[in-house]
Amino acid sequence: MSGLIRLRGFIQGMTRLADQGADERRWLTEGAGLLAGLVAVDDWLPEEMAEAGPSYRQNLLHCDPAERFCVVSFVWGPGQRTPVHNHSIWGLVGMLRGEEISTEMRPGAPGQPMQPGQVDRLSPGQVVAVGADTYDIHVVENAYADRTSISIHCYGGNIGAVARSVFDPATGATKRFISGYHNARVPNVWDRSRELASA
Ligand SMILES: [Fe+2]
Repeated sequence: MSGLIRLRGFIQGMTRLADQGADERRWLTEGAGLLAGLVAVDDWLPEEMAEAGPSYRQNLLHCDPAERFCVVSFVWGPGQRTPVHNHSIWGLVGMLRGEEISTEMRPGAPGQPMQPGQVDRLSPGQVVAVGADTYDIHVVENAYADRTSISIHCYGGNIGAVARSVFDPATGATKRFISGYHNARVPNVWDRSRELASA
């Protein structure tokens, strides 16, 4: 199995979970298992979804038609990092290439600096969750200053369209944040002609 077949199979598995009305606990266990399978092999992400830019890129790979979940590739150029941000919905992060560091940020007293909490350093194949049982506010960065890292994220909604917040770590002040996506086109996982021709 290679190429977009992997991504299609993953989307189908996640869609089955959505159709079963999975609660957050199931998404973060069974969904995490599916994502671990997807990032276990790095041979399927289309090149245009893996290109780094002047700041980190969030490419939509698939959004469930009912916006029950989405699949995104995060491309971290050397040294790139997010602002401190929240999600407000569950999320799964699977490391595909390179390494990234996620640092939980805890609000301090009003007007006071935020404090770092749990730190997760992810290697290829590893999956971690953000959500009610772990943490919702963090900053994510490429662990490397000299190469690109890529992680595959899933969220319990259409994350690019979710109204959430970015935080000033010095004061905890919040600002409304809707991330959108870098790409204008999603990969075509539905052209089965080459598989059928070689069957
Ligand atoms: Fe995040």
